Amino acid sequence: MSGTNGAGLIRPSVQALKAYVPGEQPQGDGWIKLNTNENWFVSPSVLESVARAATHDLRRYPDPVCTGLRIRLSARYGVEASRIICGNGSDELLTLLIRAIAGEGDRIAFTEPSYSLYDVLTNIQNAASVAVPLGDQWQLPVGELVAVNAPLTFITTPHAPSGTAYPLTELEAITAGCTGVVVFDEAYVDFGGDTALSLLDRYPNVVVLRTMSKAFGLAGMRLGYAFGSEEVIDALYRIKDSYNVDHLTQVAGCAALDAWDEYARVNRDTALRRDWVASELQRRFGWKVWPSATNFILVEVENADASEIVSRLKRDQILVRYFARPRLDRSMRISVGSDAEMDRLLAALDRVMG
Ligand SMILES: Cc1ncc(COP(=O)(O)O)c(C=O)c1O
Repeated sequence: MSGTNGAGLIRPSVQALKAYVPGEQPQGDGWIKLNTNENWFVSPSVLESVARAATHDLRRYPDPVCTGLRIRLSARYGVEASRIICGNGSDELLTLLIRAIAGEGDRIAFTEPSYSLYDVLTNIQNAASVAVPLGDQWQLPVGELVAVNAPLTFITTPHAPSGTAYPLTELEAITAGCTGVVVFDEAYVDFGGDTALSLLDRYPNVVVLRTMSKAFGLAGMRLGYAFGSEEVIDALYRIKDSYNVDHLTQVAGCAALDAWDEYARVNRDTALRRDWVASELQRRFGWKVWPSATNFILVEVENADASEIVSRLKRDQILVRYFARPRLDRSMRISVGSDAEMDRLLAALDRVMG
């Protein structure tokens, strides 16, 4: 009987699934968390708006289609509100895109390495991952991706975890060469690099994905949004949960967009600090830091064991990200925090490296 030992209760592809592993969440106080590329800053005006919205009205369901938020996004990015959908983090929109476009066995292409959730979501759907290797300097394999011409292609731009920016000409070449949907995951584009937004009017197969988790410091609220053709966006609306973005998150998103200039200033400073930390790591320890257009750096450690450094930092209550994956296992990915956090990181590394 299958009921007695659990066999047959769960789909085989889910039983075999290697689940996504999020960055470690520290318990207790005093930690410096540089392992998930969160922003060190949240605008006080956002916090005040959320506090004001936490009233008896929370008994009501939220706006199912994020009207106020989409009006603001439309004005900011010059894309009609009917071509925008908001999600419970951009992670939810990735799920919806896969469910809408890729059936069982369909190919989903992405670069290797890239955001490892793409592969996990593909496996959940029983679709087929096609991982196309990046060049040895993390260049986009434009020709190879076009040759695959998958029904769905994910491009992380700027790239994570390397931080590499890709020119619009390359993004357009992939879009023009593929007949399937091409999703540009621009989670980090507010810190630098080209956006593919200008392709939206010419290519119905383009989706641009953004998040408020990075540049707007709202990872804890869960808010992402996608821009695309009416055909693709309409499909996502039809399959999403009715109330996928809660009321306080919608309020926070509107307030964050209203604080645009403040965030732009802070994020420019973060980019300057990123470049300063990168030069310090090169100068003090001789490490290779890949050029980054994001709020993190990928640091290649030739003269020491990267995983050991990550463990030693953890003993000092500093979390950075280590990936035990090909091409990344000699590196650590470090989010750019506040001035004080970066000073503490550098001091800790001075101690670790003797
Ligand atoms: C490339 C990339 N895309 C998407 C996400 C997920 O963003 P969200 O917090 O909006 O789900 C992340 C988060 O780390 C990311 O690095």
